[in-house]
Amino acid sequence: MSIITTLTRMWLTRSCQPFRFTNQPAARLDYAGCRNLGLYVHIPFCRSLCNFCPYCKTLYNETLCNDYMEALLEEIRLVSQQSDGPKQVSSLYFGGGTPALALPHLPRIIEALREHFQITEGIGLELHPADVTVPVLQALRQAGVDKISIGVQSFQPKFQQLLGRQPVKAASIAQTLAAVPFATVSMDFIFALPGQTLADLQADVETAFQCGANHIAIYPFIDFTFTKSKLSAMPKKQKHRLLDDITNYLLARGCTRNSIWTFASQPNAAYSSMTRDNFLGFGCSATTLLPEQFKINTFSVPEYIRTIKEGRLPTSLTLRFTERQRMIYYLFWTAYSTKVPAADFETFFGVPLRKMYGAELQLAKWLGFATEQNGVYSLTLKGAFYYHYYENFYTLAYIDKMWGLMREQAWPEKLEL
Ligand SMILES: C[S@@+](CC[C@H](N)C(=O)[O-])C[C@H]1O[C@@H](n2cnc3c(N)ncnc32)[C@H](O)[C@@H]1O
Ligand code: SF4
Repeated sequence: MSIITTLTRMWLTRSCQPFRFTNQPAARLDYAGCRNLGLYVHIPFCRSLCNFCPYCKTLYNETLCNDYMEALLEEIRLVSQQSDGPKQVSSLYFGGGTPALALPHLPRIIEALREHFQITEGIGLELHPADVTVPVLQALRQAGVDKISIGVQSFQPKFQQLLGRQPVKAASIAQTLAAVPFATVSMDFIFALPGQTLADLQADVETAFQCGANHIAIYPFIDFTFTKSKLSAMPKKQKHRLLDDITNYLLARGCTRNSIWTFASQPNAAYSSMTRDNFLGFGCSATTLLPEQFKINTFSVPEYIRTIKEGRLPTSLTLRFTERQRMIYYLFWTAYSTKVPAADFETFFGVPLRKMYGAELQLAKWLGFATEQNGVYSLTLKGAFYYHYYENFYTLAYIDKMWGLMREQAWPEKLEL
């Protein structure tokens, strides 16, 4: 499996050099003047742990949560000292875990970030369905959150049971959302679960829109090697058909596809923390992407807190990009939005996209994966499926390996991917 990702990496980076992560952090995090910079804050606490979930999380404990939030404030201060000059960021996203478990601390975190960064496109936060209540949503709005993403997974009890989660009460969510509206209400669903049909997915997305969602994410189920999930993956052909069918259904319904797996039913609804040219991540397991480096914080909550108390950044591994490595990282995540504007690539790298990847773009057009109009390359339905298919390899070859290691070791010496 990883042979595919290795060969693709060698072809596109024109080099045998792997992505080489070391425990030597860069001297500085220089992000002043970075275009399209986003902020991400990770809150790892959950009420119970789902066995299919790969994210860095731990059971909620009040004392640990209080210490963690103090450490987060300190990390924000340490990072803000790393760069001079104006600090404008497009967005701030809170993910987890279950960020609402740290609700009383969120206004202070947002205030601390606002002291150092000017946030131009709003604040988003992930919610567990159990937290969709009027007091929680009102507190979030008061703190400045204007986009929420609810981890529904499925409205159907049979799939919740497969996932080991409680049924989600659509009527109660609808009532709560009607009482406390948000600019974007996104709902997460998992697709390609055993036995799932197009009718199941259609019923789920229709219920989501009836409940007040104006954005949905349909994530393919990924069987990470280190999770304890017993669910089997859906065969490729069936998955391809299901993704194409639900995509066509949503497009015919008037939705816009704003990334491989997300669809908006209203023009201004958007929820994505990934499609940023650069981002700063705070909290355990959070990643930071800058023009020349990619770094990842320790996954260990106690080690995260301890390191920050000692006045150091909790960086566990750092990758210094070669130019071509940065280019394919950029192209991979820009293509996730289904569109790659050549002019944006040239602004970022100072060299025309066609000069660097002209042959690959021709090949993508010839294979029917992409079309080009006015310098913007757009993935076709076929291209989107193969992107999704390749992403599965990428996730298992890179993310699974990295997260598997980081869960075991707080401070690994190195990692080559
Ligand atoms: C951090 S969780 C969501 C927030 C909240 N903790 C919850 O459970 O509702 C982010 C999303 O990742 C998706 N997800 C988690 N594990 C997955 C897996 N193994 N395969 C595909 N998607 C997954 C789910 O849709 C989930 O809502
Ligand atoms: S899916 Fe959500 S609630 Fe479940 S373990 Fe993952 S982060 Fe926690």
